[in-house]
Amino acid sequence: MRALRPTDAGSRWESRLVRSAHPVVARVVDAAVSGRAVVRLPGVGVLVADASAARRVLTDTESFVKNGPGSSGALWTPVLGERVLLNMEGTEHRALRRSLADLFSPKAVREVHEAATGPLVARARQRLERGDEVDVVELARAVSASTIGAVVGLDPATPPSVLLDAGDAIESTVRWRTRTFDADDVVRARASLAVVQDAAEAAHVEGSSSTVMGRLARQGVSLADARALAAALFLTGTGTVSSALPRIAGQLADAGLLAPSTASRCDVGAVVAEGLRMTTPSLATLRRCATDADVDGLRVRAGERVVVLLWWATRREGGFDPGRRTEGDLRHLWFGAGPHFCLGAPLALAELTSMTGMLLDVASDRGLVVTGRRAARRVLVPRYAELRLRAAAPAGDARADTARRGAAARQVAGAAT
Ligand code: HEM
Repeated sequence: MRALRPTDAGSRWESRLVRSAHPVVARVVDAAVSGRAVVRLPGVGVLVADASAARRVLTDTESFVKNGPGSSGALWTPVLGERVLLNMEGTEHRALRRSLADLFSPKAVREVHEAATGPLVARARQRLERGDEVDVVELARAVSASTIGAVVGLDPATPPSVLLDAGDAIESTVRWRTRTFDADDVVRARASLAVVQDAAEAAHVEGSSSTVMGRLARQGVSLADARALAAALFLTGTGTVSSALPRIAGQLADAGLLAPSTASRCDVGAVVAEGLRMTTPSLATLRRCATDADVDGLRVRAGERVVVLLWWATRREGGFDPGRRTEGDLRHLWFGAGPHFCLGAPLALAELTSMTGMLLDVASDRGLVVTGRRAARRVLVPRYAELRLRAAAPAGDARADTARRGAAARQVAGAAT
């Protein structure tokens, strides 16, 4: 097994983000899993920081469940209700997943993407090409909020800040150690979610085949399920994507892949996949042990809490390398595994591919440099508070033109060999 010690700038920034988000927990966990990847930490539970052990826990639904007392699913039940996928198991969970099979079909993803992501990404591209600074944290937050807004049927004129403020308000009530919400937290969280759920209800009632919620209504998904699902999509789909993009941009910069000669050789799909492996925005997920089980030689007892440390498990492979092919147990592990595998993965990939592709395009042309970055402190999903990029050379700059010609020549040379 490879060491977890960060050895390059990109890995060090990732560690800094995680430690800034969870200053105490991250250090304790780092120390606990530095020797054995599957270990019992008294007062916390069984920590699992290895890809194959993590996959085994996530796919063994007899022994490890997401609902019931002390589970992360149970945390959300008072706020979202009983039927929001992430607090369900077994037949009911399977049936609801099946009824949502087309939710993020390629057609649905394309429609939402064109409506929400396209204009914001185009504007950011123009600003970078003009030589302006762009904070990719702001870009990713706006894109993820507008995208979820389009999914739930929010009026497109609603500023992204309405959803972002709602998301921030809810995030601020959840900490790593939160096991239950008190009554006031529940009231506040429900109030924050009303904007999303009311929009979903209106779209569901209208039942138009051109909206996601309308199509769910036509497929027989109940209004109550649609309202609950809208809130769940909002909670799962904004913080993750908005955390990922700036971190992927940071990885590209730290690996020297935002210069014209290197950016032009990057394959955007490979960059997003490897960027997600390195950043794994859903740091960890929880399971409750339902029947005694064995994980990597460690006996786990019924009732114990299992903390699947996705971020630690995916990084054991080493630093950012878009040439890497992740296979076997590691494949897509950043989206989970088994029956709870991320429902929104196709949408997340479309958003990230669009934004990362734009950055690579501009970088291939003029190069991009990081002009400032700062880690967010004490947040649930580790992220940058800001990460600013600017073209390395303004439009019409002779050095940029030379670099571009150099990159083009190298590409031709590369194609010829
Ligand atoms: C880079 C972005 C994302 C990452 C890294 C991510 C990661 C994950 C992970 C690890 C899980 C499984 C958790 C577990 O097994 O306990 C999950 C589940 C889920 N994700 Fe995502 N996610 C992302 C984006 C999204 C988006 C954009 C949406 C919706 C629009 C979404 C909706 C969901 C839902 C509804 C579930 C629960 C599925 C179930 O329990 O059956 N996710 N996600």
